[in-house]
Amino acid sequence: MRKHKISIIGAGMVGSTTAYLAASKGLGDVVLVDIVEGIPQGKGLDISESTPVLGASVSVKGTNSYDDVKDSDIVVITAGVARKPGMSRDDLLKTNTKIVSSVSEQVKKAAPQAIVIVVSNPLDAMVYVASKVGWAKNRIMGMAGVLDSTRFASFIAEEAKVSVENVHTFVLGGHGDQMIPLTRYSNIAGVPLEQFISKAKLDNIVDRTRKGGIEIVNHLKTGSAYYAPAASICEMMEAIVKDKKKILPCAAYLDGEYGAKGVFIGVPAKLGKDGVEQVIELKLTDSEKKAFDENVKHVKSLMEEV
Ligand code: NAI
Ligand code: 2OP
Repeated sequence: MRKHKISIIGAGMVGSTTAYLAASKGLGDVVLVDIVEGIPQGKGLDISESTPVLGASVSVKGTNSYDDVKDSDIVVITAGVARKPGMSRDDLLKTNTKIVSSVSEQVKKAAPQAIVIVVSNPLDAMVYVASKVGWAKNRIMGMAGVLDSTRFASFIAEEAKVSVENVHTFVLGGHGDQMIPLTRYSNIAGVPLEQFISKAKLDNIVDRTRKGGIEIVNHLKTGSAYYAPAASICEMMEAIVKDKKKILPCAAYLDGEYGAKGVFIGVPAKLGKDGVEQVIELKLTDSEKKAFDENVKHVKSLMEEV
């Protein structure tokens, strides 16, 4: 397999954890970029020094310059501020729009052929902001659904007392409190969840999944989650780097699918070497479709603000 080049913009908690995990998995050579001088250099060097003991034959470099982003195959945008207790993801809109917009412009100049994965919040609106510099719609997407689905799966495995490897979950819609954990499309070893977990307990798990981000923020107090987000970003990158054609929930561009147009929002998407190679349309019940339409409406209202 050809060695890929992965650039990660933002060397904060999510960016540096993703760099470490991507290097340890040998997904490609990693460039870590930040505006703060010293931070990406220090973290990049530290990660680089871990590669011999990890047995990872990749290079890792920290930098403040987009010259180093040149020829990247994948660029992950994690630059921006994270929320603190009492804040919603939408409270980050103004600040992160400025940051993501300027980052996207510089990425476009340095690596116009790259596949871009946006992570900064509010996620669905930030993918739209980053897309404005003109990425082909299959080459830009957002990470959130994999994270929300892994949270959902971890709670189900814990409640049902089964291996996480048996749990398959799917969360549809925007990365906000109204996300839609689809119990109908989730199962334990192919068996419906209701055979393992009571309706009341499942309702609690759905609610906890929707509030999964703020649960971590309330514990940490100084920022938001980064281990599960980094693992989720790496799952998407691995699908692209290895051309897996893996179906994962991603904030992908809709052009009529699910009755929505001109919006990036969480749907099942087939990821491979060309990025989002297909948006998979699920048959939704009336109430699921209504919830999805509400999600689209909310994301569009944020898009109008930026
Ligand atoms: P952090 O505060 O630890 O790191 C952010 C980094 O971005 C800082 O190092 C900062 O110097 C850098 N930065 C700011 N402006 C920049 C610019 N113009 N160019 C390059 N770097 C710049 O925050 P953390 O925890 O890493 O989170 C990053 C973002 O990701 C937040 O917006 C957070 O809400 C979001 N997030 C989204 C998730 C998702 O599921 N989509 C999951 C976790 C976090
Ligand atoms: C989360 O859900 C911060 O959006 C991020 O943890």
